[in-house]
Amino acid sequence: MNKTLVVYGTRKGTTKEKVLLISEVLKEKFLHIVDIADSKQIKYYKKRMGEYDNIIIGSSIVTGLWKSSILSFARRDIFQNKNVAIFVTAGGTLNKVKK
Ligand SMILES: Cc1cc2nc3c(=O)[nH]c(=O)nc-3n(C[C@H](O)[C@H](O)[C@H](O)COP(=O)(O)O)c2cc1C
Repeated sequence: MNKTLVVYGTRKGTTKEKVLLISEVLKEKFLHIVDIADSKQIKYYKKRMGEYDNIIIGSSIVTGLWKSSILSFARRDIFQNKNVAIFVTAGGTLNKVKK
């Protein structure tokens, strides 16, 4: 059975919402075993990377940058022989449109 780790970096929670959606689809439609980790608490999973077939990495973008904790995880050389998918949540406007 496919085992997937979804690691995310969020500031306000939007990215976590998307991670929960992705995880539900992977579990229900594709029968994956899914673990979810906030990048701030990734230490526990780093040692267990060998258990996973697939790694999904998600981050929000603020002023053009990934969240630093998820960026440093993504830069690590620990993804050999794994399927890796990356997504970002971004966009929107900080100002309301004036009518
Ligand atoms: C202070 C701030 C700066 C942002 N900067 C950008 C940016 O440079 N580019 C972009 O596409 N989106 C930007 N966004 C939009 C966020 O990436 C988007 O709302 C994201 O879904 C937030 O995810 P989070 O709730 O997981 O932190 C910014 C949002 C905020 C609040």
